[in-house]
Amino acid sequence: KRIDILGVATASGASVRGCGMGPEALRVAGLLEALVELEHSIADHGDLRRVYPEISTNPSSWRLPEQRRADVLELAERTSNAGYDILSGGHFPIFIGGDHSIAMGSLSAVSRFNAEKGKPVHVLWIDAHADYNTPDTSPSGNLHGMPLALLCGEPGFDDNFKGDWLGKVDPRNVTIFGARSIDREERRLLQARGVEVIDMRKIDQTGVVGLMQPIIERVKAADGHLHVSFDVDVVDPTLAPGGGTLVPGGLTYREAHLIMEMLHDSGVVGSLDIVELNPFLDHGGKSATLLVDLVASLFGRSVIGEEPGPVEFVTRE
Ligand code: ARG
Ligand code: MN
Ligand code: MN
Ligand code: MN
Repeated sequence: KRIDILGVATASGASVRGCGMGPEALRVAGLLEALVELEHSIADHGDLRRVYPEISTNPSSWRLPEQRRADVLELAERTSNAGYDILSGGHFPIFIGGDHSIAMGSLSAVSRFNAEKGKPVHVLWIDAHADYNTPDTSPSGNLHGMPLALLCGEPGFDDNFKGDWLGKVDPRNVTIFGARSIDREERRLLQARGVEVIDMRKIDQTGVVGLMQPIIERVKAADGHLHVSFDVDVVDPTLAPGGGTLVPGGLTYREAHLIMEMLHDSGVVGSLDIVELNPFLDHGGKSATLLVDLVASLFGRSVIGEEPGPVEFVTRE
């Protein structure tokens, strides 16, 4: 299956600038070469971006909240349409951000495409955050903290957020993995809707294998499409410093790879986001390189060159 890469070069969902440079940093770190080396055929669609026609009146140099909102909405629609075309062509889309608001578009594409085929969409949101705020609950107002809530149909988004481009996700098919920073109101919403949240404590206690297996089994049983949304800040900041909303206590190097390796073996992943990489904050390409290696694990890189066979439940000591 051909892998199609679509960059969405924006930071307008975030309060910190720089992740608009994410797509280019991932290319410089060797994303395409890594996939070619694994004998995948690839197509790079380049980057969606918005040119800012307005003259900035903002002395702080970053765009005003309403301008950033307009950017997010326009890019969401364009990403949704471009992603839909990639899926219709029978290809595997990798959406490279860009801040996490780009998932408003990527997940909409995935949801619309699969809805027509009657295939259920499951979402694995690998992130230090839940990104389940609404404009009413968000303490920051930043749209990268809201994509899941929008897709799950939460109230509080005005009509500008609606349109043919917007897809729908069942919150009971969403698993957040690696969480360690969730806002109070956000947590209440997650509980009310039945979103599964696997926080870092559960990962410490149970280990990646025992937590990932039931997620994969559920998608298989439903014959579903699994969309993986990978936020670089899920990884511990010591390993991945290139993010604007870092939280201590993240995934280890091997935990992150094991997740990707298990996802590869599962065969159920149909689309991927790689988001929130901020090359301006990164240390010499460290986080970008890690992300490229993680994508390679998801697409089959392995030391022994074969699947290791059924995994046993293991507990981290
Ligand atoms: N929960 C916080 C907020 O809503 C942080 C969200 C961070 N999201 C992200 N994609 N990095 O503002
Ligand atoms: Mn996120
Ligand atoms: Mn995050
Ligand atoms: Mn360990």
